[in-house]
Amino acid sequence: MDQAEKKQQVANAAAEMVESGIKLGVGSGSTVNLFIDAMARRGRAPAALVASSRETERRLRVAGFQVSELGDVGDLDLYVDGADEANKNFQLVKGGGGALTREKIVAAASRRFVCIIDDSKWVAVLGQFPLPVEVIPMAQSYVARQMVRQRGQPILRKGFVTDNGNVILDVHSLAIENPVELETRINQIAGVVTVGLFAQRPADVILMAGDSGIKRLERR
Ligand code: 5RP
Repeated sequence: MDQAEKKQQVANAAAEMVESGIKLGVGSGSTVNLFIDAMARRGRAPAALVASSRETERRLRVAGFQVSELGDVGDLDLYVDGADEANKNFQLVKGGGGALTREKIVAAASRRFVCIIDDSKWVAVLGQFPLPVEVIPMAQSYVARQMVRQRGQPILRKGFVTDNGNVILDVHSLAIENPVELETRINQIAGVVTVGLFAQRPADVILMAGDSGIKRLERR
């Protein structure tokens, strides 16, 4: 099975978990786009839907869903989102699509976070995928210097502006042995809006598509 088929399978499996009447947060990325289409095909009708990016909001509307603001809905029952990397502690690297800040907010406001990945995203140590850091534009070179002090190699994502009007530094060559500690440390750097480490609020469930089908992993 190729990666596209695996993404489709895991998107279908996640759509099965959406019960009518729940308050649902929807992440961003190609796997989530397939999830949106699968939900629409199955006629699932959450009571409220909150999007983690403008692109997801647009796709939800095209698929026929109404989209609410997080502030109008309060806490969410379920958040479904993809990831760029995941480890056995359900900690994630996210932000390949640049939506990390809103994704982190929606994840924080959700009782249950279901992460949908194919098995290429499963790693022993986070950091092979460059770690996205959303930064206030004027702090770009300051934050880049701090990332070098953390032994990372920051590269500005050229021509990209986040939904919040900021820039992204993709930090290469980090072997993230202690994700909670690094998330805390990077969060404290002046000018950092969000780091794409989801370790303090990891996923609760990982649905992972592989050659032998979907694996469902539950965090205890
Ligand atoms: C976007 C994300 C995505 O979840 C992550 O990049 C995975 O994307 P895809 O499903 O396209 O592989 O964090 O900011």
